[in-house]
Amino acid sequence: MAEKDTELIHGALITKDPAKLRLKPNLQGYDNLRKTFKWSDADKMVEWFPGGKINAAHNVIDRHAKGKNANKVALIYDDGEGNAQKVTFKQLYEQTNKFANVMKKLGIKRQDRVFFFLQRSPELYVGFLGAIKCGAIASPMFPAFGPDAIRDRLLDSSAVCLVTDSDLKKRFYEVKAQLPELKHTIIVGKDVAPDELSWEKEMAAASDKFETVPMDPEEFMYLLYTSGSTGKPKGVVHAHKGIVEAHLTANWVLDVHDEDVYWCGADLGWVTGVVYGVLGPWSNGVTQVGLAGRFDPDRWYQTIQNYKVSIWYTAPTAVRMLMAKGDDIPKKYNLSSLRALYCVGEPLNPEGVRWAMEVFDNKPFHDTWWQTETGSILITNFPEMPIKPGSMGKPLPGIEAAIVDETGKVLGQGEEGSLALKPGWPSMMRQIWKNPAKYNEYFRNGWYYTGDTAQIDKDGYFWYVGRADDVIKTSGERVGPFEVESALIEHEAVAEAGVIGKPDQLRGNIIKAFIVLTPGFTESDALKADIQKHVKSKLAGHAYPREIEVVKTLPKTRSGKIMRRLLRARELGLPIGDISTLED
Ligand code: PRX
Repeated sequence: MAEKDTELIHGALITKDPAKLRLKPNLQGYDNLRKTFKWSDADKMVEWFPGGKINAAHNVIDRHAKGKNANKVALIYDDGEGNAQKVTFKQLYEQTNKFANVMKKLGIKRQDRVFFFLQRSPELYVGFLGAIKCGAIASPMFPAFGPDAIRDRLLDSSAVCLVTDSDLKKRFYEVKAQLPELKHTIIVGKDVAPDELSWEKEMAAASDKFETVPMDPEEFMYLLYTSGSTGKPKGVVHAHKGIVEAHLTANWVLDVHDEDVYWCGADLGWVTGVVYGVLGPWSNGVTQVGLAGRFDPDRWYQTIQNYKVSIWYTAPTAVRMLMAKGDDIPKKYNLSSLRALYCVGEPLNPEGVRWAMEVFDNKPFHDTWWQTETGSILITNFPEMPIKPGSMGKPLPGIEAAIVDETGKVLGQGEEGSLALKPGWPSMMRQIWKNPAKYNEYFRNGWYYTGDTAQIDKDGYFWYVGRADDVIKTSGERVGPFEVESALIEHEAVAEAGVIGKPDQLRGNIIKAFIVLTPGFTESDALKADIQKHVKSKLAGHAYPREIEVVKTLPKTRSGKIMRRLLRARELGLPIGDISTLED
């Protein structure tokens, strides 16, 4: 890809006139910082306990509650119906102290795993940070998960405590008998069984005084499961030290200032919701909006208007969905509070960047690239920089990123290869839970291989090409084909299944399944619908195949592995490549 081509395909640079920016970006002088920045500089942006100890929750809540921000609104929570609740840093401090005391009373030990299966709610923020305060490892789960997804996570991590609500607990009870190590179930809401604990009662009885536990920076803070191409979801473990980079990037990339109202749309079940819907912005003491409920254009624009959102972090699928609803809806609202827009999770189409400029009074989306494993944004279009529409941008100072081949050789400008990073940044995952072999697979030839393929242009901007593996990104959410295949073959009509991502205008990709039917079953729309329902109810509401194609056989290697690459090539009319390992 020559530079000329990128200009032709994606349109001209979007430049910024510093005089016209409402606030001066926090990061100034990128080129110079790339040469001079040291991670020890970032360490100074957060507070430490004596002896080099730290606790992320202290930085996110306590330091503001004990300082000038005590009575500043930390959270504007909207229940999705427009009913708002404002919570100050001091109130969050007291509530998280209470929850930490509940944990203590239950005998939750340092580094025990505490899970949250809740809709976006004040309790979710309080529980997550309260657990971190007391030294536990916190793990939020996406509310669309089905029983199998819940079981896999709680079982693999030997979770001891689950916080859920009267409604969502039904899915958990389908698998509870398979979780002997889980000791406590805390229920938010009214319907509390005798062997469960009531959130309301426990919180009412707990003291609001708690000394946040000083942790070694390398001790674990949170755990999130994510998908690879093979096997069950893997538990990506993050350390308290990660708060340094969550803070730095919220400051430098999302550019939060004291007076901002910041809104991140991601659920806490995904890494974006944790790092940029909790940790980074609050560590900087900024007011955040938390909106419950599903995609709803009117509600979203209202949220921006009503709470005067100035910084908005969202996902390309959401942008495409808003675009598809037309430009008349945003015209009904006063969106003049917005000053900066960001996106993450999948490629952001250049049209999305340009559409935003038309609809949001000349404000483009800034694309940001990162992963569950990287723990914070590593490549981005910085606020002070010109944007190349369609490009992920440039690496954060302190990050060495390159395009490499399988031997670790660094490739030149315009050459397509693996996007790789030099290990060693503060928010990098520390482990794959109980699976060192899986962890080690990421590292080769001195590089961390991201699993993405990309290119770099003459100005040092990175351009996403695709995934190097079979991982599917659908609506920006990461799904492993193996999990979907496993859920499919549990249906009595499915003998074999192979699953791929199929490009889709709106969702980036949809999940497509190729299945071989069990003898005695005949293909029909009703049967396909039943199979889809089965996967949704087992695995997750979002991770089901929107398309199912019945085939006679699936291409397999001689060792019996389904060759998804061939399914994909056939579906998309691509060259089929090397088939020397094909069964017949
Ligand atoms: O393929 C890349 C894609 O999302 C993957 C990481 O997924 P996950 O761990 O769920 O984290 C998503 C949110 C941090 C990456 O390997 N991805 C992420 N950001 C971008 C992207 N693809 C293209 N452009 C991006 N900006």
